[in-house]
Amino acid sequence: DEGLHAPSYPWPHSGMFDTFDSASIRRGYQVYKEVCATCHSLDRIAFRNLVGVSHTAEEAKALAEEFEYQDGPDDEGEMFTRPGKLSDYLPAPYPNEEASRAANAGAYPPDLSLIVKARHSGADYVFSLLTGYHETPAGVEVREGLNYNPYFPGGAIAMARVLFDDLVEYEDGTPATTSQMAKDVTCFLAWAAEPEHDERKLVGLKAMIIFGSLFALSVWLKRFKFASIK
Ligand code: HEM
Repeated sequence: DEGLHAPSYPWPHSGMFDTFDSASIRRGYQVYKEVCATCHSLDRIAFRNLVGVSHTAEEAKALAEEFEYQDGPDDEGEMFTRPGKLSDYLPAPYPNEEASRAANAGAYPPDLSLIVKARHSGADYVFSLLTGYHETPAGVEVREGLNYNPYFPGGAIAMARVLFDDLVEYEDGTPATTSQMAKDVTCFLAWAAEPEHDERKLVGLKAMIIFGSLFALSVWLKRFKFASIK
């Protein structure tokens, strides 16, 4: 069972010339931090990656300092803890897969770094999954400990519904509805899976302009050179 196919949503970044929505990524980081990070890691993103995307260097530094990191050995060969720095990667909730399964009744909350890329229909899937919890329909059996969600392959997922209206309080005043938080955290995860996305589109656009002009020039040159030959 593949799971219900997610509808296609108009993501701010989906058009050929569209870049990520930095305000949405910023809100999405807040949702990730306050909700998802309890169970999921995001191994591929360091605090410095947020700089210039959704936060200033000062802000990202302050976000890093909210966490303690193991470091060392120091001059005496001792390990020590210190506040996070821009170069640290976002902290994981569990030290390894065994520990995370133990804390989640045997289920494994996957690292979310590439989830938007790993799943067919990417951002649409993640949004649909987060907003797709419903009462189990009559006639459908869901095993103890699982939750009905038609978008998850198999239709039953170990993760319970996590987003509820007003769960977080956005600093920019955006109403934190379930779907708003789902959208923002999905934008954040789409960026995390492809931080080079905006750069790629910009370079692509430049290449189109340059090669387009060169092609036009070559057409003109060919006509000019062959004009005398009928
Ligand atoms: C699975 C996202 C919060 C526990 C998943 C999947 C996604 C996801 C996309 C499915 C991965 C796949 O297709 O294989 C999120 C997001 C969250 C969030 C964006 C925050 C908004 C949480 C929390 C917990 C949790 C707070 C723990 C209380 C799990 C578990 C699975 C899972 C155990 C594995 C489900 C299974 O294999 O049946 N999550 N999650 N998640 N999540 Fe979350």
